[in-house]
Amino acid sequence: MLPQDILDPQSAAEDRQAEAGLRPSQLGDFVGQSAVVDELRLFITAAKQRGEPLDHVLLFGPPGLGKTTLASIIAGEMGTRFHQTSGPVLERKDDLAAILTSLEEGDVLFIDEIHRLSRVVEECLYPALEDWRIDIILGEGPHANSVRLHLKRFTLVGATTRAGMLTGPLRARFGITERLNFYEPAELERIAVRSARILGVGLDGEGAKEIATRSRGTPRVTNRILRRVRDYAQVHHDNFITGGVAREALEAFDVDPMGLDAMDRIYLSTVISKFGGGPVGLKTLSVAIGEDAETLEDVVEPYLVQVGFINRTPQGRMATPAAAKHLKKKAAPGQGELI
Ligand SMILES: Nc1ncnc2c1ncn2[C@@H]1O[C@H](COP(=O)(O)OP(=O)(O)O)[C@@H](O)[C@H]1O
Ligand SMILES: [Mg+2]
Repeated sequence: MLPQDILDPQSAAEDRQAEAGLRPSQLGDFVGQSAVVDELRLFITAAKQRGEPLDHVLLFGPPGLGKTTLASIIAGEMGTRFHQTSGPVLERKDDLAAILTSLEEGDVLFIDEIHRLSRVVEECLYPALEDWRIDIILGEGPHANSVRLHLKRFTLVGATTRAGMLTGPLRARFGITERLNFYEPAELERIAVRSARILGVGLDGEGAKEIATRSRGTPRVTNRILRRVRDYAQVHHDNFITGGVAREALEAFDVDPMGLDAMDRIYLSTVISKFGGGPVGLKTLSVAIGEDAETLEDVVEPYLVQVGFINRTPQGRMATPAAAKHLKKKAAPGQGELI
């Protein structure tokens, strides 16, 4: 892995604390994704009118687009408690049983990276989701006993970078599936303005625009860039971010004008220089870059496809002329190895 990059959409330790304070707590404060928000608002209102827990929800989309945020908003809007865990953390059936038996009626259990649940844990989850029960084995060997535990009716919210990575039976148990897409610059501007208000730093329209366009379509990146530019503005410019201050800071931090991070640039320069622009198969590319294919496909490629820098063809990945042009512009003197 590369060292943490200011534009990497994946969450780093530094983000986790900072994000807690910037997370909207109501649907009304969640910017953009209006189709998703409208649908969720309808389902939440209907469930509350009936006095029932919300159906299980699956959220999918690239990192940093608001899956964890939406999950906690769902609990807030339902007026129930929020419990958070993740696929890789839930290693054993007992871990799952301990969490499930602690849930109250209507509580939200959020399982991040749900595609990484182990088979055993996943299978144990099925009857919990459908019939509100789990069967666990107590004791060992000839004295082992199967015990059935009854659960309160809860709501599972699962998050994954790609719905296709879930097994069929698990996917079938979600009544509501929502896909999050990259944000428009205007939406990211609104997020920057809101976050600046919370952080107590001045930000004008030009400053917000400058930060938004370099955010890789991703609110997590917007918030991270904003924090770094705030440091710069605080030390050099009286704690106020104008367009000029933002540009100056982002140039000092060597932030790509399109928001491409280091991995995006390595990906593109590999396709272009090593494979003549493609087509090159995902596996070959993964070996050449030294990053696993799943990460390339779910984290790196979606944005590059969105901005028209690569095409996924049946023969393999191809870089577009726009990508080559962008990389050339970016490769400043002394950085010629990029291309
Ligand atoms: N629609 C949104 N409006 C405002 N802030 C958002 C929105 N989506 C995400 N954020 C912010 O971006 C950061 C990352 O969001 P998060 O929910 O952790 O993403 P994910 O779980 O999809 O990786 C958080 O600080 C969150 O507050
Ligand atoms: Mg998350």
